Amino acid sequence: MTNTTAATALRAVRCTVNGEATTFAVAPFRTLLDALRHEVGLTGTKKGCDVGDCGACTVLVDGAPVNACLMLAVEAEGGAIETVEGLAGPRGELHPLQRNFMRCGAAQCGFCTPGILMMAKALLVENPAPNEAEIRFGLAGNICRCTGYTKIIEAVALTASEAGGAGGADEAGRSSTAGAPPGRGLR
Ligand code: FES
Ligand code: FES
Repeated sequence: MTNTTAATALRAVRCTVNGEATTFAVAPFRTLLDALRHEVGLTGTKKGCDVGDCGACTVLVDGAPVNACLMLAVEAEGGAIETVEGLAGPRGELHPLQRNFMRCGAAQCGFCTPGILMMAKALLVENPAPNEAEIRFGLAGNICRCTGYTKIIEAVALTASEAGGAGGADEAGRSSTAGAPPGRGLR
């Protein structure tokens, strides 16, 4: 086998995607983003820049947000991948973040939305009661060209608030529900 052939030979990757055991074959230089879209067939995860600048490709790997365009697919071996397709429940019921993005009008073209939803999910697991500054910081790596961000922040804050977290803090980071019991968080 020549070096070129060895470099391009497909490798089998075994992992879970949205809770389902999944095996796909991929060239070792392909990104997780391309593998998800082309090998697994889940096109909800978007390719914006392909160089780690926009956050459109954000997925969760073992619970942590990752730019899928910066991760090799073969590195997903044995991992638990969550994509936007896994947010809704088994009967199609929307995740609270999805419901509140709709309620708040937080999506326009929607290209950034899958990545922002996944990043927001990770944020609320880590910090169930973020104030506005914390939400803005948490989503700082996710670029939206349409909304101006205000409604996105509102939707995340509303989701935290509904789950028992604080949310809805002002620009100075003062929580509107300071002293409230800690939120349950979202899974
Ligand atoms: S497509 Fe991955 S960060 Fe832009
Ligand atoms: S809704 Fe269009 S890029 Fe965010």
